[in-house]
This record gives sequence, C-alpha cells and structure tokens, in this order.
Amino acid sequence: MADLTTKFLGITSPNPFWLASAPPTDKAYNVNRAFEAGWGGAVWKTLGEDPPIVNVNGPRYGAMHGNDRRVLGFNNIELITDRPLGTNLEEVRQIKRDWPDRALIVSVMLPMNEESWAKYVPMIEDTGADGPSSISAARTACPSAAWARRWARCRSTSSSPRTGARSTHACP
Ligand SMILES: Cc1cc2nc3c(=O)[nH]c(=O)nc-3n(C[C@H](O)[C@H](O)[C@H](O)COP(=O)(O)O)c2cc1C
Repeated sequence: MADLTTKFLGITSPNPFWLASAPPTDKAYNVNRAFEAGWGGAVWKTLGEDPPIVNVNGPRYGAMHGNDRRVLGFNNIELITDRPLGTNLEEVRQIKRDWPDRALIVSVMLPMNEESWAKYVPMIEDTGADGPSSISAARTACPSAAWARRWARCRSTSSSPRTGARSTHACP
C-alpha cells in the first residue's frame, strides 16, 4: 500500500485525512471510532472554560436567505463543547495514549486575556496532544484568533523529560 505519511506543522500522521473540530470529535468514543476507521488525525471539539456553556439543543444549522428568500448558505450555530473541561482533557490524554501515531490537536476558545491562556493552555498541553493547542485556535474564523496568534508567537516548544510529550513555554 502507498505510504501516505504526512508532516504538517511538525506533526506527523499516517495520512493527511483529519477530522475537523465538530461533533464527530467531541468525545473519546467518537475519535476512537474514527481512528479505528483509519483517519490520520482529529481536531478535538473546541474546549472552553468551565463551567461548560449550554449549547443550543435544536437544529445545528441556521439558514441564510437572500432577498428572494432563497437559501444562500448555512450558518453553523452550534457553539463549543458542552462537556466539562476535565472530562475532555482526560479523554484527550487517553486517546493520545491509545493512538500515539495519530495527530490529535485540541481546539480551544478562551477569553482574550493572558491570564486565561496562561491557565488553560498548559493544562491542554499536559494531555500529550500534538502541537500547541493555541495554534489550532489561531484560525481567522475563531474569535480568540488574534490573541491566540500572539500567544503562539511568543512561545517556544520543548519535550517533557518525564513523558516525552511536547509542550510550550513562555519565551524568556
Ligand atoms: C455542528 C458543527 C459543529 C462544529 N463545531 C466546531 C467547533 O467546536 N470548533 C471548530 O473550530 N469548528 C467547529 N465546526 C466547524 C468544522 O470544524 C468545520 O470547519 C466546518 O464544518 C467546515 O468543514 P469543511 O471545511 O470540511 O467543509 C463545527 C461544524 C459543525 C457543522
């Protein structure tokens, strides 16, 4: 079989097919099934601060209409995870332990202040997930993007002598 191994942002995965952050990546059960099916990586459903927010419990899409009331597109109205942070982090840790060859990125959305990022990012990194979690949030679509990019720029990466897990530290 062809070797589809990829290296993206320094993260190696057996193939370039990754699941985006969304309901299929919101819990260990789902990510486990995805990896069993052969997906090369996953971006965990976006985490936030505790207590978890209450998501909408109706349809997960909102339609956008043009002047003639024809549907132009869909607006994703689901928010971030509605599960406790600790539960998510434990499951991320377990999945990375069970599937060390797969890419596992943790998406995170936090208030735009240094205190929040300094508190939560190390907790996420400690799970052993690949790459700085702030990078996955540094997408233009994310409300925290500007802050996350700043955070990502002023951090450096190293490996934990205990677990070998990669983590980032504030630049001197
Ligand atoms: C119901 C639903 C929930 C989603 N939740 C998240 C999320 O928590 N975090 C996130 O970064 N993107 C979220 N997304 C966006 C997806 O990650 C993805 O970017 C989007 O579905 C477009 O995928 P595509 O580029 O493969 O078409 C969600 C999308 C849907 C439909």
